Amino acid sequence: MMRTVAVVNQKGGVGKTTTVVNLAHALSRGGERVMLADLDPQGHLSACLGVHRPPASGMDRVLEGQGGPGDYAVPLKHGMRLVPSGESLDEFGRFDVGKAKAYALEDALLAAPPKVDRLLLDCPPSSNLISVNAIVAADEVWIPVAGDYLSLTGLARLILTLKRLDPLRRKPLRKRVFMSRFVARRRLAQEVRTKLKQHFPEYLIESVVSESAALAECAGAGQSVFDYRPACKAAAEFERLAEELVFAKVSSDEQEKTSHVA
Ligand SMILES: Nc1ncnc2c1ncn2[C@@H]1O[C@H](COP(=O)(O)OP(=O)(O)O)[C@@H](O)[C@H]1O
Ligand SMILES: [Mg+2]
Repeated sequence: MMRTVAVVNQKGGVGKTTTVVNLAHALSRGGERVMLADLDPQGHLSACLGVHRPPASGMDRVLEGQGGPGDYAVPLKHGMRLVPSGESLDEFGRFDVGKAKAYALEDALLAAPPKVDRLLLDCPPSSNLISVNAIVAADEVWIPVAGDYLSLTGLARLILTLKRLDPLRRKPLRKRVFMSRFVARRRLAQEVRTKLKQHFPEYLIESVVSESAALAECAGAGQSVFDYRPACKAAAEFERLAEELVFAKVSSDEQEKTSHVA
């Protein structure tokens, strides 16, 4: 069964796209067939993967009900596949025509499931209709949080948004939070980590992604860090993060199971 994962945070610059690129490659190295979908109209995901002239159609068409992601996917290195944002994705985000549209992506995935083990959705920095579609369609959300105080209040708001969307969802949602852009020597980052452990222990996983030059550079080179600098610390961190995101249990798993049975 394919797992659909939405990488979400309404804040920009926290590392969503970086996470999607590098986790996709980590998971693919672990043997998964991975598809990456760009749900940000800015189209950064394509550029970060070295696809500088992406096809004009992609997730925009999928959300408009014209086929599944597999119809618009382009091949990448290492057997991965990318679905670009498409030129009219922005219009879907602005054009709020009510609840029915919240199921556009889920319906497209049910009608034409991509033949992969995992679909990673790179979400835009907002909680608009595009993000709502991603969250409704997803089996899980992975939330990167940067190490500053605004991120903490942002996370509280995001968890609330996810709860508000629960009535729309047809299946349970597994949630994982991790620190991206972590600077261990910075006191603030350590404080934010402590606070995350206090307030969100049911979602937080131990692995962090540190702020690193290699990660900033590999985006410009259109490569994952595993291709750009395979021996660097960031590659090891993403390997561990992928492992933990997929396999580690957190306390909310038990609650979810119970609430689902009830
Ligand atoms: N851990 C990191 N270390 C260094 N630079 C990073 C890191 N994570 C992200 N960046 C850089 O920060 C910018 C924003 O990251 P991005 O992944 O695009 O965030 P988002 O998708 O949440 O807006 C990009 O230029 C990216 O290369
Ligand atoms: Mg992004």
